[in-house]
Amino acid sequence: MKKFKRYLITSALPYANGPIHIGHLAGVYVPSDIFTRYLRMKGEDVISICGSDEHGVPITLKARKEGVSPQEIVDRYHTINKKAFEDFGIAFDIYSRTSNKVHYETASDFFLTLYNKGKFTEKTSEQYYDEEAGTFLADRYIMGICPHCGNESAYGDQCEKCGTSLSPSDLINPHSTISGSKPVLRNTRHWYLPLDKYEPWLKKWILEDHKEWKTNVYGQCKSWLDQGLQPRAVSRDLDWGVPVPVKDAKGKVLYVWFDAPIGYISATKELTPDWEKYWKDEETKMVHFIGKDNIVFHCIIFPAMLKAEGSFILPDNVPANEFLNLENDKISTSRNWAVWLHEYLEDFPGKQDILRYSLCASAPETKDNDFTWKEFQARNNNELVAILGNFINRTLVLTTNYYEGKVPERGKTTPEDEAVLKEIPLIRQNVETSLETYRFREALREAMNLARLGNKYLADSEPWKVIKTDAERVKTIMNVSLQITANLTIILEPFLPFSMEKLRKFINCSILKWNYAGRTDLLVAGHLINKPELLFEKIGDDEIAKQIDRLQATKKSNEEASMKMIPVKDPVSFDDFSKIDIRTATVLEAEKVPKTTKLLKLRIDTGIDIRTIVSGIAEYYEPAALIGKQISIVANLEPRKIKGTESKGMILMAEDKDGKLVIVSPAEKINNGSVIK
Ligand code: 2FM
Ligand code: ZN
Repeated sequence: MKKFKRYLITSALPYANGPIHIGHLAGVYVPSDIFTRYLRMKGEDVISICGSDEHGVPITLKARKEGVSPQEIVDRYHTINKKAFEDFGIAFDIYSRTSNKVHYETASDFFLTLYNKGKFTEKTSEQYYDEEAGTFLADRYIMGICPHCGNESAYGDQCEKCGTSLSPSDLINPHSTISGSKPVLRNTRHWYLPLDKYEPWLKKWILEDHKEWKTNVYGQCKSWLDQGLQPRAVSRDLDWGVPVPVKDAKGKVLYVWFDAPIGYISATKELTPDWEKYWKDEETKMVHFIGKDNIVFHCIIFPAMLKAEGSFILPDNVPANEFLNLENDKISTSRNWAVWLHEYLEDFPGKQDILRYSLCASAPETKDNDFTWKEFQARNNNELVAILGNFINRTLVLTTNYYEGKVPERGKTTPEDEAVLKEIPLIRQNVETSLETYRFREALREAMNLARLGNKYLADSEPWKVIKTDAERVKTIMNVSLQITANLTIILEPFLPFSMEKLRKFINCSILKWNYAGRTDLLVAGHLINKPELLFEKIGDDEIAKQIDRLQATKKSNEEASMKMIPVKDPVSFDDFSKIDIRTATVLEAEKVPKTTKLLKLRIDTGIDIRTIVSGIAEYYEPAALIGKQISIVANLEPRKIKGTESKGMILMAEDKDGKLVIVSPAEKINNGSVIK
């Protein structure tokens, strides 16, 4: 494996048009933070870069909706998100933003370099234009039907239902999201990066030279490359973004996906005057942490841009994660179906590590995964409290009680002690291997094995019993347990930085060097530890119920809001209406129509006659439950043969938004055959 001199870690720049939720943390920022912390602890030269992605149509759309400027939107969310990352210990070296000056200059220069090298093609083509709003309709300014899945609300750049990436001309029945009007076609000129020309190179670079990339990443790249790449426009007709820095480009800005990844470069420039060593030296290992919807941009388009520019390095790996769902439903900002970081902290103050832990333990590394509050509770109560907290607490309390907090001497060791001591460096090695191959769930499981080992060791050696008969032996047991504890503060630090900082204070030891992990002399005899407190506490059912109730309330209000009202039909004359004879009746008999799932055959008393009606309500009513029920019927509907039975009339029913049918009954008992008018 190639040895690198330094690391450049980037984490996808979140759009500054909404707050950060657990999906963002689990997919991108927790893994990137664990990786960065690990490298820092190893003493590597590493920088971790992130910032707000402040361009793109969703931001301008939100601004328009709120009647404020795009700058106001990005200022708001940049501040909120920067704080959320800090609060959760996501320790970027810089959290920059793409609306700042350095970025405008860097992105402009990058474009100009490619432009001057003749790397773009220029093309005039017909694109949709909103005549009412007087603007071209890029990306999310246009909506229509997805040609792949029929979703009626697909955007001009992507269908969120089937995930296909689209261009406005793919949409069926497009309409402007600004004015709602039907757009017309107008000529406009743009710059394109001819990705097709980079295809052979990309095929070799990814499909042959990077077979080690995660299966989901490699697979998505392969599918793009197999389909064949097309030239891609790198400019847009918009008024929010980095202006295209050439003559005659008024009203044109860089496409957000052209400028955003350049944001990694500008943020590095802002961080250090020495930025070029991170971007232009082959001995730097660049790793992009992203979510799966960003794969094509980081594995194909940005590398093609970097290659075209010529002086930059390429990513060594792009460990993209899949998506995290919440309680079996897709996380969605617009439906408020998310756990927002700032809200979490209001309900669980100071408990960042529990969320970091559960998101890492069930991270969507190879497939989409589900976050549930019950699992969150179980991770805390059964793992952090019952394994890690329990081991540490017993070790520290016994040390305090038996030796007034002084680390005792390790005397003669038994084969059991030796086996445990030997296991520590092996665990460190396993954690390392998993981290270096971006398997963070596995790394955490391995790290927790150290706590499991400690727990078992204490349970097996029972110092609280042995103390009565062999005080010398207990000194050794406690010394070994304290060495495990000190190792935990190192090995778990990348995952649980807040708790390990506390624990280091408890044991009065500030060693934060990865290479010390595995050693069994981290705490010398006589070293004084501090008075311990509990590291983790159980989360009660009531706390979890509160979160689940909140989500249920969200679901309910979403359902109410999404209930589509069917428009009222065209007016009918009173004469026409009076032709319909609606009466009350009572069900006498009811049975299923054989070989059907939906039909019931009912004998009813209309007060005028006894007749049969076949009705499609079998999914909602048991036959027996209907007998004796008063109903309303259209009494003079022409008879129809349904499955061999003549049906005379129709039962009136109300249909809810999910298609469920409910019989319409008179509010009080009334004579059969009463006229409903
Ligand atoms: O998907 C997103 O949230 C984008 N804002 C990510 C951009 S990553 C990078 F290229 F800046
Ligand atoms: Zn679709």
